[in-house]
Amino acid sequence: MKEPVRVLMVCLGNICRSPTAHAVFQQRVDEAGLQESVLVDSAGTGDYHLGCAPDPRTQAAGAKRGYDLSALRARLVCAHDFETFDMVLAMDENNLRDLRRLCPPGLHHKLQLFMDFAPGAGRVVPDPYYGESEAFEQVLNLVETAADGLLQHVRIRVGG
Ligand code: 4NP
Repeated sequence: MKEPVRVLMVCLGNICRSPTAHAVFQQRVDEAGLQESVLVDSAGTGDYHLGCAPDPRTQAAGAKRGYDLSALRARLVCAHDFETFDMVLAMDENNLRDLRRLCPPGLHHKLQLFMDFAPGAGRVVPDPYYGESEAFEQVLNLVETAADGLLQHVRIRVGG
């Protein structure tokens, strides 16, 4: 059996966007029966909310669409992540810039924007933290679109 593809979703706080991307993409992977072939995790570049569950607004928006984020806990991106994961997907340009600073030379090919997998839907998933509830809906809309594109991409990689 092939090695699994390991995907890490990254935002700033790891309490809004990347846990949403984690849960949505995990559900797509499960529905496709690829849970042995595609491993999903998430992390943040900032240490404001380490160990915390996703923001209640993020959990509520996700729950309305059938995603359970309650078991996720915020953690920081660490140097080892760049070795472990095959794809490290940033929610916005700031996250990508921070990842480029943290990533050892030779592993930068693993870094890209999550929204690369949603051509035509915009380049980034905007930070909803200081926004209204519509901002959290918009995160889900963008994440669901990119998760569909990413699933197609990894299917080709794992032959599923
Ligand atoms: P996230 O959102 O990066 O999507 O998890 C944020 C969460 C917390 C903060 C900023 C963005 N903060 O400044 O505490």
